[in-house]
Amino acid sequence: MTDVTAVATGKMPHHLAIIMDGNGRWAKARMLPRLMGHRKGAETVRMVVTECSRLGIAYLTLFAFSAENWSRPTAEVSALMNLLKKYIQSEVPRMMRDNIRFNVIGNRGDLPEEISRELEEAMAFTASNTGLTLTLALSYGSRQEILHAVGRVAADIAAGRLSAESVNEAVFADYLYTAGLPDPDLLVRTSGEMRISNFLLWQLAYAELYFTDINWPDFNRQELLRAIADFQSRERRFGLTGDQIKARS
Ligand code: IPE
Ligand code: IPE
Ligand code: MG
Repeated sequence: MTDVTAVATGKMPHHLAIIMDGNGRWAKARMLPRLMGHRKGAETVRMVVTECSRLGIAYLTLFAFSAENWSRPTAEVSALMNLLKKYIQSEVPRMMRDNIRFNVIGNRGDLPEEISRELEEAMAFTASNTGLTLTLALSYGSRQEILHAVGRVAADIAAGRLSAESVNEAVFADYLYTAGLPDPDLLVRTSGEMRISNFLLWQLAYAELYFTDINWPDFNRQELLRAIADFQSRERRFGLTGDQIKARS
């Protein structure tokens, strides 16, 4: 058992990112349609958002729909879009209650206009909240994001708004969808898959990775605390030696 109090009083990840995977397999194992897995998964999202907010985590980023997920069967894509719409509508009041700032990364232009509008409204409505920043990655692909940034950097250089010599890591990061967000320090992926699937390739450079076999609909508070406890037990070295790190702390 994870010692809940020890975890809650320990050092929290500043930015937790999650690849929420395994909804389909959860449903299949129960002979249910995949949509039921996504519905149950949305409940897990509610729980995780509430818990992270309570634990005082500053940033939570959830991979909800990838640029590649558009290639899934049309019925599944529309069901996911519907679920997303319902989620936003039902969650905004709760975000206001819990002081949560809502944010979206990804190619919003790909999303149905109605959804895009709902997202804009939710962001505007929660913009001055000062608690947890909740970011949903929607129609998100990291290589696409990097190319998009490179294109904008090139355009700014061509227009004389930016000098080529001034492009360093911090300047480049400001051209990504995640501009203004710190890099994740912990990445969790559920369902036993051990891959990044084109998620935050630049931003995860030094993140701690945590994989669990649990499917997303079964991921619960205990599992979240377990992931955080694991994070708390690690020594982050950033290229230094263990002795150097100990001397610093
Ligand atoms: C994650 O669950 C949700 C999305 C990618 C939208 P999946 O739908 O990928 O579930 P599996 O991987 O098929 O079990
Ligand atoms: C990654 O899950 C995308 C999301 C969680 C939204 P996938 O299920 O689409 O990833 P792959 O295809 O198994 O790598
Ligand atoms: Mg999957």
